[in-house]
Amino acid sequence: MSERLDIREQTPGDLRKSYGLIRDELARTDRLILDELRSDYPFVDRLAKYGFRLGGKRLRPALVLLCAKACGRLTEEHFALAAAVEMIHTATLIHDDVLDEATIRRHLATVNTQWSNEASVLLGDYLFARAVSLASSLETTFACRAIGEAARVMCEGELRQIDSRGNYDLTEEEYIEIVADKTAALCACCCRLGAHYAGADTEVREILGNYGRNLGIAFQIKDDLLDILGDEATTGKSLGTDLVKQKPTLPLIRLLNRAGDDRDEILSLLSESDNHGREALRPWFDQGDAVVYSQERAEWHIRQAKESLQSLPGSPARKALAMLADFVVARML
Ligand code: IPE
Ligand code: IPE
Ligand code: MG
Ligand code: MG
Repeated sequence: MSERLDIREQTPGDLRKSYGLIRDELARTDRLILDELRSDYPFVDRLAKYGFRLGGKRLRPALVLLCAKACGRLTEEHFALAAAVEMIHTATLIHDDVLDEATIRRHLATVNTQWSNEASVLLGDYLFARAVSLASSLETTFACRAIGEAARVMCEGELRQIDSRGNYDLTEEEYIEIVADKTAALCACCCRLGAHYAGADTEVREILGNYGRNLGIAFQIKDDLLDILGDEATTGKSLGTDLVKQKPTLPLIRLLNRAGDDRDEILSLLSESDNHGREALRPWFDQGDAVVYSQERAEWHIRQAKESLQSLPGSPARKALAMLADFVVARML
């Protein structure tokens, strides 16, 4: 696949540094994904590989692999797990792009744009099925149970998000609960899987699960900031869709809570379902404290994540996990 680029070559220093320790393992995971996605039917084959062509940050496989190393043992099973969680993540992105009517993902046209919503729904299901089938090739049922549970929680989070569309009275706590479900549950699951299959005990598994949960919450808060302030050429995905889809994200909740007399004007901008809300709201975001406030909340979760790591023995992998946590709040992609 000559057009396939390695996104990790384009990422800021911090991510490359955190991945230095697992560079070969991540490359092997990518090869396993491509092997696993092979289909006898050319259309299915092409579609399945499309989502993986340009990569993506590979955060979830990195969590599996680094947590395994932090527990002192990386096994064959970890490669299957790393591949499976990336397939699940990609499946959720393909479905998410249908929900958000997004046109760009991983620097390419989304599957819904290039093909159709029908193809996206089925491709997401296909990737999910292949991931479960890969996880079930492991000897114990721990992985299947953990992945099934994380997928359930993710769907609950996404459903709650749909239910809260246009509800600008959503509290910050409710927002954090939704984010914890839709994004952090899979990150926590990746960390627990890495630990469990490295032979770690329940306590270490929970320490790393807690790291992953806090990292995942911070990751989504930062993602929600990027949706408002980020650059599509850098993130490689459609931005501004949270505003168009009337998702009450943390920066917006904070902006509205502090808007005073301007609240009605902001709400009327939000009720227009085109993509001009981003530009129109920008002056309010520039003036108020919503951006700094949200960034600080993300940083708080990153501090919690890094604190969890303190109870593990020092190692290059532990250091890489701490660097990865820093990347999550500093990232522009
Ligand atoms: C995007 O995840 C979806 C969210 C949870 C915010 P990533 O930003 O990790 O997407 P890729 O894998 O790098 O494309
Ligand atoms: C989706 O959140 C998170 C998932 C769990 C799929 P977003 O809608 O913010 O993700 P992006 O911004 O499209 O990547
Ligand atoms: Mg989206
Ligand atoms: Mg987003």
